[in-house]
Amino acid sequence: MIIAIDGPSGAGKSTLGKMLAKRLGLLYLDTGAMYRAAAMAATNAGISLDDQERVVSAVNRAHIELEGEPDNLLVSLDGEDVSATIRTPDAAHAASVVSTISGVRQRMVELQRSIGESAPNGCVLEGRDIGSVVFPNADVKFFLTAKTEARARRRFEEDNAKGRETTYEKTLTEIIERDRRDSTRKDSPLVRADGAIKIDTSDLSLDEVFDIMLRHIEQ
Ligand code: DC
Repeated sequence: MIIAIDGPSGAGKSTLGKMLAKRLGLLYLDTGAMYRAAAMAATNAGISLDDQERVVSAVNRAHIELEGEPDNLLVSLDGEDVSATIRTPDAAHAASVVSTISGVRQRMVELQRSIGESAPNGCVLEGRDIGSVVFPNADVKFFLTAKTEARARRRFEEDNAKGRETTYEKTLTEIIERDRRDSTRKDSPLVRADGAIKIDTSDLSLDEVFDIMLRHIEQ
């Protein structure tokens, strides 16, 4: 079984994707983490993110792996654990920039399909283009969304809890900028895929959204 979850940042995709994978015994694949690691491959090599050709060849050479349980996901780049370093706001920005490059997307989509197809019981994948490009024939597709302010508030609270110094206003500005880039890029922009079930999570608790998603999957 393949479950696709797409939507903008802060809509609850990761938390709900992990909850579903655990409940259903499926592999969980955080495709955003792969774009973050891909961006890091380029920056570690000292390549400017504007130099698309060199970014693509660095990403093609990079060895990106995701292992472990949904709550304890280990992301490695060329054998080095980058699970924490890919979570900074700078890494998020860099991921959003490299994800506009078609050559980078091709490599990521290829990897995501092969991981999803080889998962013994199936896979929950979350990202921006899962239902539209990576697995257009997914068994169930969700499009999670929430008001911009609600998403910025959640992201700000998460960052705060992790001890990162930021402000709500800064987080809001970053989210608006990332939404704009992710939705307006030429290759695979963030869209609600055909047949995707849209859920606005602004005023729902996690458990409420989880129940709605489970009901759809059971159907
Ligand atoms: O979900 P995230 O915040 O970790 O994603 C980081 C960036 O990667 C996001 O700005 C857009 C990009 N991305 C993408 O283009 N396609 C995906 N399937 C997942 C993420």
